[in-house]
Amino acid sequence: MCGILGYIGKEQVAPLLLKGLEKLEYRGYDSAGVAILDGERLNVTKTKGRLKVLSELLKQGKEIQGTVGIGHTRWATHGEPSDVNSHPHLSESGKFAVVHNGIIENYLHLRDFLADNGKKFLSETDSEVIAQLLEYYDTGDLLETVIKVKEKLEGSYALGIICRDNPDRIVAVRKDSPLIIGVGRGENFIASDITAIVSKTKTIIRLKDGEIAILEAENIKLYDKHKTELKKDISTIDWNISEAKKEGYEHFMFKEIMEQPKVIGDTISPRIRDEEIILDKINLSKEYLENINKIYIIGCGSAFHVGCIAKYIFEKLLRKSVEVDIASEFRYRDPIVNKDVLVIAISQSGETADTLAAVRESRKLGARVLSIVNVVGSSIANESDDVIYTWAGPEIAVATTKAFSTQLAIVYLLALYMSKKLGKIENKDYFEYIAELLSLSSKIETILKEKENIREFALDHYSTEDVFFIGRNLDYALSLEGSLKFKEISYIHSEAYAAGELKHGTISLIEKGTLVVAIAAQDALVEKMISNIKEVKARGARVLGITTQKNADIKKVCDFTFCIPEICNLLKPSLTLIPLQLLAYYVASERGCDIDKPRNLAKSVTVE
Ligand code: F6R
Repeated sequence: MCGILGYIGKEQVAPLLLKGLEKLEYRGYDSAGVAILDGERLNVTKTKGRLKVLSELLKQGKEIQGTVGIGHTRWATHGEPSDVNSHPHLSESGKFAVVHNGIIENYLHLRDFLADNGKKFLSETDSEVIAQLLEYYDTGDLLETVIKVKEKLEGSYALGIICRDNPDRIVAVRKDSPLIIGVGRGENFIASDITAIVSKTKTIIRLKDGEIAILEAENIKLYDKHKTELKKDISTIDWNISEAKKEGYEHFMFKEIMEQPKVIGDTISPRIRDEEIILDKINLSKEYLENINKIYIIGCGSAFHVGCIAKYIFEKLLRKSVEVDIASEFRYRDPIVNKDVLVIAISQSGETADTLAAVRESRKLGARVLSIVNVVGSSIANESDDVIYTWAGPEIAVATTKAFSTQLAIVYLLALYMSKKLGKIENKDYFEYIAELLSLSSKIETILKEKENIREFALDHYSTEDVFFIGRNLDYALSLEGSLKFKEISYIHSEAYAAGELKHGTISLIEKGTLVVAIAAQDALVEKMISNIKEVKARGARVLGITTQKNADIKKVCDFTFCIPEICNLLKPSLTLIPLQLLAYYVASERGCDIDKPRNLAKSVTVE
């Protein structure tokens, strides 16, 4: 989604913004622009297309002088990707420039109001109304003007504002869209994402909803809507810059796939002490767990798929009923949630608009919300009753891999923790699961060493047009993720199907040469899977089977088989996932796709 970067200090700002905006490319965008103050004038350059087009227009930043500026990468929502719809947007006289992330929901009403008052609009965007409102309500006092405009806006926004008459200031405001302030020495930054500024400073202020920040080169002040100055909550981020670099890998996605043994270890090991699971500061008492009658899991995309796998795990280990919902559906269907329901929200970014709204809705309905989040201090983390962080480090590729694996790892830890508290698990089984969990890293490592086998298969199948991912039980839940990963980066149509369900309609699509990926790792269901594989083979499908050595019979019915190391059935999704990620990656790579930034997608989906 859109990205914001702003700078005030002593450096020439144009090259700095170009470089910093590159770090936001991974979020997904279709146009980019900058507004720069050179002391007297406010210069805006913006264009449809990649940052290199903007960089050429700006002669790599040498074209415009100035040490104060704001920049933006846009992911189109209101109006097609075009030069004029790109940000920054200027007010009619050119006095104010604005960059905006989010959606102004009442923009049509505001636009009509401004048009009736003589303002002319150049773009189709919702964001341009903000620039025009600033000019319309201009009192000559920048803070006062911003407060007035803020009162008129409905929806979500992170804003960076500069004004020709205040060439030594940047204003930042947010509501339901992330924005941070980077604190430097003689220079300060605003950014929608830490990655844009981490090479410059690790000292940050996370702007809270409704706060207004006025940045000068040597000073930062925060205000509320009554112009009262607020206390600054300064923190330090413990990010290693190398985590946000490719480090010799061709793509972030591949680097992140390869990092999984480490991050799984980082997420699990510190939480197991003397064979006890310690979930940070969380305490879910036996009484509380006994009283909840349902667990609701919510998330979007891959996070939702973690929830689908988690349903099997929680139901098996807790014998409590679990419902899984796509966050955007949950919030508008009057869910049956109350104080007797535990809601688990899953999100890598912690900023997904629908998941955040579902968290708020659940808490309003009286439920306790526990979130599983990767980005520390993100909105979902802040607004939940309890948070368990996945320690996956920054995930840059749009398609999630290591965050998914660590979310799943937390699900296992949480389910075992709750099962033990409820007395639903024998000690012997509990200790076995703990040992298996601790073996995950090295088993993933073993799979990654065999990646060449998957690559060879991908080289033979990258021009396929349709793929079906099938499985039963946990293997089916995982196939949902296998299919999403495959289609989102390779642009090949794919579907996930419960293997037993195929013959109720979808099998009519299987014809000679159709590729089927059959995940057949659940021991008790292998025989059933063999029958389902035979059904598609009989109609001409080519089948890649993913299983374990123990179930090598699968080899007899598949065209190609990949075996994962042995592990208990419950933990198998953590291993079968890896060949599916590799398959998606190698196929997309062979097709020359933009793997880290697939078309139309964004890393952090902060709009509904
Ligand atoms: C797919 C993918 C997305 C995200 C989804 C939720 O590879 O990454 O489907 O899982 O947009 O994002 P978060 O986890 O940030 O809430």
